[in-house]
Amino acid sequence: MKLGIASDHGGFQLKEAIKKEFKEIEFIDYGCENEESVDYPKFIQKLCYGIISKEVEKGIAICGTGIGASIAANRHKGIRAALCHNELTAEMSARHNNANVLTLGGRILSNEEAFKLVHISLDTEFEGGRHERRIKAIEDFQS
Ligand code: RB5
Repeated sequence: MKLGIASDHGGFQLKEAIKKEFKEIEFIDYGCENEESVDYPKFIQKLCYGIISKEVEKGIAICGTGIGASIAANRHKGIRAALCHNELTAEMSARHNNANVLTLGGRILSNEEAFKLVHISLDTEFEGGRHERRIKAIEDFQS
């Protein structure tokens, strides 16, 4: 699976740790490059364009809290970014919301906690059915 990943300075350390931990995954890294202060929307936008253009299948977006990254990602049509802080939200974001961006807070989670959430989100199947209908309804009202 080809996965996109992007962060700002607040998520940089976790982004690098995830790439090292998940050696079997081919990542496209949309930045940032180091811990110097940057504006997250630019990097999150690059990741979302990567998903929309099918350069990558899904993505991981990280900022300090995960909040800004999820707000920015969800401005893109076809992107379902889920800010997950624990195992249940990671599971449900895949099972019910078919999230295509897992959003994490680099200053909220330890690396080990974050690795667990990445595993869960990648290993959980979308349930479809009524959830498919709800996702379609969201897409229909998006401008
Ligand atoms: C950067 O200091 C911080 O605001 C950013 O990483 C993120 O948490 C925004 O939501």
